[in-house]
Amino acid sequence: PADMGDDLERVLLTEEQINTRLDELAQQIDADYAGKDVLVVGVLKGAVMVMADLVRRLHNSVEMDWMAVSSYGSGTKSSGVVRILKDLDTDLIGRHVLIVEDIIDSGLTLSWLLANLRSRGPESVEIATMLRKPDAAKVEVDVRYVGFDIPNEFVVGYGLDYAEKYRNLPFVGTLAPHVYSA
Ligand code: PRP
Ligand code: MN
Ligand code: MG
Repeated sequence: PADMGDDLERVLLTEEQINTRLDELAQQIDADYAGKDVLVVGVLKGAVMVMADLVRRLHNSVEMDWMAVSSYGSGTKSSGVVRILKDLDTDLIGRHVLIVEDIIDSGLTLSWLLANLRSRGPESVEIATMLRKPDAAKVEVDVRYVGFDIPNEFVVGYGLDYAEKYRNLPFVGTLAPHVYSA
């Protein structure tokens, strides 16, 4: 159906809650990087919303770049083996890199990405994620900025998809079981 209203079970985070948290995160980031140029790296495609909303709140001098990655192999996602679909255009030597993600689920994507970017000679690499699911973690990732810790449920919206849909919802919601069990 074109109307996705029936596909949602409940709203987990409202647009207002997200915006308030973004204000707080941006303040922290501005303070932590005062006087420094930051290269903000968004991980396509999920991070598009948080990237756009976060950088517009920063007063620091920032550059933006993007990576697209994909888990290798068949079966369930996040094998931990990652393939680069689109690499950065930017040289990382001596840069302060801030990776921006929509969600950390198992942590496998970011754990790989962190090691990959750290090997390129940056001055620093930190992570900002809007959502994190502590109960789904398979590896511990040291994350500097976390918007919200959320339960281990299927969430969509604010960049997060189910079969590429629902990314455009301005809030984070849980998906009704009939959508994915049909
Ligand atoms: C999702 C999400 C994170 C990653 C988190 O991306 O946006 O990038 O999975 O999972 P992990 O912590 O278990 O590794 P996905 O691979 O679905 O691509 P997308 O951003 O294009 O939706
Ligand atoms: Mn993603
Ligand atoms: Mg996805």
